[in-house]
Amino acid sequence: MTVKSPPPPSLFERRVVVVVGKGGVGKSTVSGGLASLAAARGKRTIVAEMNGAETMCALFDREPVGYEVDELATNLFTLSIRAEDAIEEYLVRMLRFRILYEVVFRNRYIGPFMNGVMGLSDLISVGKVMDLEWERTDGSHGEESEAPRTWDLVIVDAPATGHGLSLLHAPQSMMDVTRVGPLFNNARSIRDLLADRERTAAVIVTLAEEMPVSETIELANRLRERSDVGIDGIVVNGVPPQLFSSPEVAERWPEVAERGRALGGVAAAAVADAERALRDRVRADKHIATLRQELDLPLIEVPLLAHRDLDAAGLAVVGKHLEPWT
Ligand SMILES: Nc1ncnc2c1ncn2[C@@H]1O[C@H](COP(=O)(O)OP(=O)(O)O)[C@@H](O)[C@H]1O
Ligand SMILES: [Mg+2]
Repeated sequence: MTVKSPPPPSLFERRVVVVVGKGGVGKSTVSGGLASLAAARGKRTIVAEMNGAETMCALFDREPVGYEVDELATNLFTLSIRAEDAIEEYLVRMLRFRILYEVVFRNRYIGPFMNGVMGLSDLISVGKVMDLEWERTDGSHGEESEAPRTWDLVIVDAPATGHGLSLLHAPQSMMDVTRVGPLFNNARSIRDLLADRERTAAVIVTLAEEMPVSETIELANRLRERSDVGIDGIVVNGVPPQLFSSPEVAERWPEVAERGRALGGVAAAAVADAERALRDRVRADKHIATLRQELDLPLIEVPLLAHRDLDAAGLAVVGKHLEPWT
């Protein structure tokens, strides 16, 4: 069987890497792993956590600081983007006068209407990602400044599947309802950034399990239909390790297992453990094969690491596994 594999993406040549997937599959871990690898390479990297999540601070044993850039390690920064904060910042800047923001957006009739109808909070949340991409060290945003960019790489830790999709689709939705005007232009710039494969990459994180795999296939298809964001690859996270170090060892296993079982006691128990691990791996391989078959995308595996609660050191290990894509 020959499976044609697409060329690996080069994530660190882009400016923005969006990490999407179902809840709990390891989006934050993969975002942190990529960020820690980029930072170690000397790139000023920021992880933008959408939806007000503050996982990075927890991983680095720090108190969350809310809507403020926090330095976690050399070259490694994080910002938790909460829609309310992003909206306030945006509107105060656009409207110039805070009073207008207070009147329009805090208004209990108009505020929810604007937000609900137009997906304004999603748009402005991804708009903040564009701001980070544009930001210059002199504090300006845009092309007119000569100052270097503040961030070499912006990694977006997106919310779980459904909301992640609407977030990425928000610019197009806004363009559909506005058609002209400043909001339209704004939405178009964000859409253009997300759709530009030279500048923006996206990866889907999943687990080698039945539900996550079928949801990943669906997510990839919906991303292709509903957004202009190109998918660069699939990270299969938490894959059970290969038990045997070589084919020779694998070949001798049945005989070894037989002897272990015959011995009984601890030896038999160890054999039973090993057989369970073998079955896990076979099952995982089956799901990975489905992913390869259904999606013509580069795929990388990140093993299940021993400690469930990863820390900064664990992120570096995850980053190491993602190196072929950087
Ligand atoms: N490769 C891995 N090995 C072991 N534990 C992992 C791995 N990836 C993630 N985890 C753990 O699984 C949990 C969920 O991961 P997280 O990155 O927070 O998921 P998400 O951001 O997609 O909700 C966390 O406790 C994390 O430490
Ligand atoms: Mg998360």
